[in-house]
Amino acid sequence: MTNSNSIPQNPINKLLLEAKNISHNFDYPLFENINLSLSENETIAIIGASGCGKSTLLNIFCSLLKPLSGEIYFKEKNIFEISQSEMLKLRRDDFGIIFQAHYLFRGFSANENLHIAELLSENNVSEDLMKALDISHVLTQGIGELSGGQQQRLSIARVLTKSPKIIFADEPTGNLDQNTASEVMKVMFEYVSKQNAGMILVTHDEKIAYSCDKVYKLINQQLERVK
Ligand SMILES: Nc1ncnc2c1ncn2[C@@H]1O[C@H](COP(=O)(O)OP(=O)(O)OP(=O)(O)O)[C@@H](O)[C@H]1O
Ligand SMILES: [Mg+2]
Repeated sequence: MTNSNSIPQNPINKLLLEAKNISHNFDYPLFENINLSLSENETIAIIGASGCGKSTLLNIFCSLLKPLSGEIYFKEKNIFEISQSEMLKLRRDDFGIIFQAHYLFRGFSANENLHIAELLSENNVSEDLMKALDISHVLTQGIGELSGGQQQRLSIARVLTKSPKIIFADEPTGNLDQNTASEVMKVMFEYVSKQNAGMILVTHDEKIAYSCDKVYKLINQQLERVK
C-alpha cells in the first residue's frame, strides 16, 4: 500500500500546541502571521530585543491574551473558542505558566503556597523537587521573607507540582545567578523529558536559549528560526 494512510505516524513527536497566523498590535504592529508548533518532549526558546513583543506573544500562546487575529490549538481545539469553564480547566490542568512577576499568595508561607497547588492538582509536592530547587530550608517562611530568586523558584515548584502538559516561562531565571539559573533550568528540562511535556521559554540568556531544542528570534514582526 502506498497511499498516505499507510505512512506510520511518529508516536514520539505528538503535537501539543499549534499557533496559526497570529498577529497582534498595541499602538504599533508587534508581529504578523506568526506560526509555531510545539510537540511532546520539545523545548522552544524565544529571544529578541527588549520591547519586541516576546511576552505579549507568550501571553497569547498560553491563553491569557486573545490575539487580534489567528488561532491557537491545543488538543485540536481552538483555545479562544472554548467555553469559560473549559478555559479554566485548561489553565488549571494543562498549562503551567511561569512569569517574572510571580503569582504567589502573599500573607501565606511558602509551604502553604505549595499546599494550595497540591490541593488543586491532587499531586504531592516532591521532596526531590524542593531539594533540586534549593528551597527546602525556606518552606516555613512567609512570601515577603523570601528573596526574589527564592520566590521565583517557589513559583516554579508550584507550577511543576500541577504537572502541566506545557510550561510557558517568561524569563524564569531572570532573578537568579548563573549557577542557580542553570540548576533551575536543569529541573525544568528534566521535567519536560520525564513527563513528555513541552516548554516555550522566553529569555534574554542566549546560553539558556540555545540549550532548548529550537530557538526563534522575534525580529521584524516575524519569528525567525535561529536554531
Ligand atoms: N497591555 C499593554 N497595553 C499597551 N501596550 C503594551 C501592553 N503590553 C505590552 N505593551 C507594549 O508592547 C510592546 C511589547 O511588549 P512586550 O512586553 O511583549 O515586550 P518584550 O519583548 O517581552 O520585552 P522585554 O524583553 O523587555 O520583556 C512594548 O512596547 C510594550 O510597551
Ligand atoms: Mg518581556
